[in-house]
Amino acid sequence: MISKHPFIAACNRQKPSRQPIWLMRQAGRYQKVYRELRAKHTILEMIKAPELAAEVTLQPLRAFDLDAGIIFADILTLPEAMGLPLEFVKGEGPVISAPIRSIADVKKLRVRPAEEALPFTIEAIKMVCRELNDRIPLIGFSGAPFTLACYAVEGGSSREYDLTRAFMFREPKAWHALMKKLAGAVGDYLLAQARAGAQALQIFDSWAGSLAPADYREYVLPHTQRVIAIAKQTKVPVIYFSTRTGAMLNVVRELGADVYGLDWRVDINDAWKQLGGKIAVQGNLDPTVLLTTPKTIREHAARLLDSVKDKRGYIFNIGHGVIKETPEENVKVLVDFVHKYAAQ
Ligand code: CP3
Repeated sequence: MISKHPFIAACNRQKPSRQPIWLMRQAGRYQKVYRELRAKHTILEMIKAPELAAEVTLQPLRAFDLDAGIIFADILTLPEAMGLPLEFVKGEGPVISAPIRSIADVKKLRVRPAEEALPFTIEAIKMVCRELNDRIPLIGFSGAPFTLACYAVEGGSSREYDLTRAFMFREPKAWHALMKKLAGAVGDYLLAQARAGAQALQIFDSWAGSLAPADYREYVLPHTQRVIAIAKQTKVPVIYFSTRTGAMLNVVRELGADVYGLDWRVDINDAWKQLGGKIAVQGNLDPTVLLTTPKTIREHAARLLDSVKDKRGYIFNIGHGVIKETPEENVKVLVDFVHKYAAQ
């Protein structure tokens, strides 16, 4: 049976009833309603109060004609629940005050069932699904083991994750132990989100592109493959998103995801071919296009839609998250244009 949801149909490479579109970081600071709520709460408070997380998830779905929601959470609540204290510091981004630097640190990480470790996100998913009542599918997500390890080792954001890569080469045993623990926790978290009602699962590997292809294969691939194999037990589509991985898509394709999310640095058709062709693809408009004018947005979106018009399994998205300076009207222009143009 073909899903009635255009987004799910496209994930399964079936013919959708219209061109699906959703946007990474579609909930967030570019929206006035978000900023108003955020003025009263920290980001972690918003994530950890299920009714607030549910409300923020629904905000972009009320404002725009999007084809999927994504639960409001963050990739870093999982390492926090494993014992790594997390803070969001203004101007600095996420800070983990006791980063992982040794095998002893890895051993201290706790893995508990996701329902117990992250009950707020599981509850928020249930609340959103009740509210959406199957009108719009909801995406659950997690960080990939590598991207989570980057934050866990570095203690925060970094340009190229030098400490993480050095740790990986210097202490391969500790590295694999860390990745194994993270992969188990991520897999369990994704299963719990699907059980709570998430109709697709996205794995964010935002920093995978800081690795050489051979090192990705040796130090990362088997762990992420395991996560994807676990997530696939649910039968819901599994999306793998990464950035700066254009030069190693021949390795990335071995992950076995149903959908690959691409950033804007690759030609979408070249990437699709390198990924083997028989998968769905999501992306890859440059998010800065949304900082421009309706005319420029329409031109770029039309060019992207023209380039994939004969493809099966295409999901429109931007190549990374919505930038906080994006005018809300521009998001509306993009979403409406994509539906209308693709229907011609
Ligand atoms: O897409 C969505 O609408 C769902 C919400 C979502 C958030 N984080 C909420 C959030 C998702 C999918 C994420 C994933 C996430 N978090 C990633 C992977 C995606 C990517 O962007 O590469 C990463 C790397 C993180 C870690 C993280 N969380 C960073 C680097 C920051 C920015 C810190 C800053 O001060 O700019 C966050 C905070 C965060 N997570 C915000 C939102 C909406 C900004 C919140 C705010 O201050 O109000």
